[in-house]
Amino acid sequence: MLYDDNPTLVGIPKEIDENRQGEALFWEDARSGSTAGGKRFYIESYGCQMNFSDSEIVASVLAEEGFSPTRFMEESDLILINTCSIREKAEETVRKRLRMFDLEKRRRPGVLVGVLGCMAERLKKKFLEEEKLVDIVVGPDAYRDLPKLIAGAEDGEKGINVFLSREETYADISPLRLDSNGVSAFISIMRGCDNMCSFCVVPYTRGRERSRDAFSIVAEAAQLFEQGYREVTLLGQNVDSYKWQNPENGHVVSFAELLEMTALVHPGLRVRFSTSHPKDMTDEVLHIMARHENICNYIHLPVQSGNSRILDLMNRTYDREWYLGRIEAIERILPDCAISSDIITGFCTETEEEHRDTLSMMERANYSMSYMFAYSERPGTPAAKKYEDDVPEEVKKRRLNEVIRLQNQISLRHNLADVGKTFRVLIEGDSKRSDQEFKGRNSQNKMIVFPKQPGLKPGDYVNVLVKSATGATLLGEMC
Ligand code: 5AD
Ligand code: SF4
Repeated sequence: MLYDDNPTLVGIPKEIDENRQGEALFWEDARSGSTAGGKRFYIESYGCQMNFSDSEIVASVLAEEGFSPTRFMEESDLILINTCSIREKAEETVRKRLRMFDLEKRRRPGVLVGVLGCMAERLKKKFLEEEKLVDIVVGPDAYRDLPKLIAGAEDGEKGINVFLSREETYADISPLRLDSNGVSAFISIMRGCDNMCSFCVVPYTRGRERSRDAFSIVAEAAQLFEQGYREVTLLGQNVDSYKWQNPENGHVVSFAELLEMTALVHPGLRVRFSTSHPKDMTDEVLHIMARHENICNYIHLPVQSGNSRILDLMNRTYDREWYLGRIEAIERILPDCAISSDIITGFCTETEEEHRDTLSMMERANYSMSYMFAYSERPGTPAAKKYEDDVPEEVKKRRLNEVIRLQNQISLRHNLADVGKTFRVLIEGDSKRSDQEFKGRNSQNKMIVFPKQPGLKPGDYVNVLVKSATGATLLGEMC
């Protein structure tokens, strides 16, 4: 997944990064005061794309109860924060925001504050006990219970539901697209994670892995296309292990099959997916990608470390050679495919030589971009229980800087290799810099900026010739 407690992004345009920074989400057409006398909610989301997608489920649940969204915290009756626990920094950011919300509560008694998502799940009752400012605590599988918890809180009862489900996929809830560009949307295809990477808190905060009804996913994609959307991203912690059994005939739909079903919705609908796990990514998925032009040539395939001993300690269940084999398969079957990664520096006991294995892996895999992090011990994870967090902070940071510097070079080289090439670009909107320019992405997920021409609008496809490049963006002209 793509995470956002200020991850260090390289090779991705700043504007995308900024768009994900703890956003207040709202409907594009929401107008202040549109619900004469009705209640309003304000929601901020942090962390991975799954959280942003969950906020759209929450919005849908609240809309059923007559709540309407507002982009202004000052006019809301209910303030919600969808939280992330992946690293300590993510939690610190949320605590800072809660202190802001407390000031608002003091100004306007009666306003309710709710904590949703991974931090709610991890800290459970502690939130209500320690942070007196919070009225409602709701884990990722309990959003259907929000109306009841809100009603209780209005009567002065603190509300909590952090029950983790083995079945909940919210398949029947049609997400309300918040803050959408009207062109790209996320579709959640599964929830939870069964992988147990030793550093990761996700299996504890999001529970067991379960896959959503394949037909409800395809129906959502078709509906989005009808509404004018031209790109969907299928979301899961580990999409390759998607597995849904059709109760009608017992047939088990794999991720490769789901990908193909979604691609067949319409050739004009681009399909992306995230995140792939190196141990599960099959050649079959790669062949399906090769067969359908509208499945984008881009794979986010986190390596975490380039060293086999560290990968073993991380419980990633593959080694360096296996990962290199996956890279070779992508290069063989999808020669134009861009690959990106997640990297952790300074995991328990990592030596300089092992760190250098990560650097050489980055060179070999030729990542178009990476999300890079210093290891942050999370309470209760296998790594926290079994290993000493013994790499000094300054060493972690120095290694992280080396990784970032190298990724910057590789991203620039990757982008410069595109100069002179023509790409099919899906227009997403105006570029950040100028309303005379459009921005859009190519199949490889690279942002391209180019001068506008009359008659074109977001959602249109155009061919763009790349004229120049920076490490983050391609600049071109329509041709
Ligand atoms: N410390 C640092 N980075 C982490 N990630 C997950 N857990 C931790 C942690 N404890 C990173 C991994 C993962 C990404 C979403 O966040 O790289 O792929
Ligand atoms: Fe965490 Fe590993 Fe699951 Fe990703 S695959 S969410 S890193 S446990």
